[in-house]
Amino acid sequence: DRDAAVLGLESSCDETAAAVLRADGSILAEAVLSQLAEHSPYGGVVPEIAARAHLDHLPRLVAQVMAEAGLDYPRLAGVAATAGPGLIGGLIVGSSLGKGIALAHGLPFVAVNHLEAHALTATLPGLVPDPIRFPYLLMLLSGGHCQCVAVEEVGRYRRLGTTLDDAVGEAFDKSAKLLGLPWPGGPALERLATRGDPARIPLPRPLLGRAGCDFSWSGLKTAVAHAVARSAGTGQDRADIAAAFQASVAAVLADRARHALDMLPGATALVVAGGVAANQGVRAALAGAAAQRGLPLVAPPIRLCTDNAVMVAWAGIERLRRGLTDEVGHAPRPRWPL
Ligand code: KG4
Ligand code: ZN
Repeated sequence: DRDAAVLGLESSCDETAAAVLRADGSILAEAVLSQLAEHSPYGGVVPEIAARAHLDHLPRLVAQVMAEAGLDYPRLAGVAATAGPGLIGGLIVGSSLGKGIALAHGLPFVAVNHLEAHALTATLPGLVPDPIRFPYLLMLLSGGHCQCVAVEEVGRYRRLGTTLDDAVGEAFDKSAKLLGLPWPGGPALERLATRGDPARIPLPRPLLGRAGCDFSWSGLKTAVAHAVARSAGTGQDRADIAAAFQASVAAVLADRARHALDMLPGATALVVAGGVAANQGVRAALAGAAAQRGLPLVAPPIRLCTDNAVMVAWAGIERLRRGLTDEVGHAPRPRWPL
């Protein structure tokens, strides 16, 4: 039934989100509340604060999107909630609320893997001019994840490479902190880099040219620390280091993308998701890598690249369509590889 609607809930990290989608993928309502302000005094996400904030805000967001969609709970075709991977407190809040709504109204419940939700966002109808086809390569580049995934079918994913240490967003955030920028540092570092010369203080490009498509960012972060310590610390020094950092990350990501695409010969596209996909330098480098393999770069709009509930509802719809539902006894999983 194309008119059937699904409620999606997201609470695995520091975004509280709810959305209602029709089975045909049209978005009836969506809401996201970022907890940036709550966490920024601590320079990172504090799990206990996150869990309590989800508890404070998610029920209201659910009521809001249901009202906006003009639906009563019994008219839903199902409820989908992120059940992992992520911070356990938030996962418990979102999945318990989802199960409660499902139980109260006799609806099917879907426990969604957050990574699967990111992976399937690119198949949301209407997102790109030409519908994307399987298989495609997903690069998930966020504060918590850094991996290359072959998306072969709904439910069939192969991780081709992952980070050996930090996630790429973490590398942005830690390097930004070394440069005296506020958390989360990615956007601030990108702004600073526009005033810098990427060639004056060159930085290493970890794993560049190495076989496969794993990542390693901790050495680059250490190199940033050394460069900051050695420099006179002028504004121009900091801008140059930021520019060099971003150039290194972009070059490495492009190199890893080319390797990953070679590992998935039938790929129809390179898809990028996660907050780091907002970075223009990163996007340009990845578009170049995809073009070298004759493929398009597909980047969902930023609001669907970062954590949101639209992607959770959409993954729920795809699973419901295949009869894949979960028991209310399903336990959320802080670690849950695809
Ligand atoms: O996907 P996301 O919103 O949340 C999760 O980590 O799940 O990603 C946030 C990460 C942060 O590390 C942030 O610094 C980074 O994405 N980020 C950026 C940019 N915007 C956000 N990194 C580089 N350039 C940006 N413009
Ligand atoms: Zn995410």
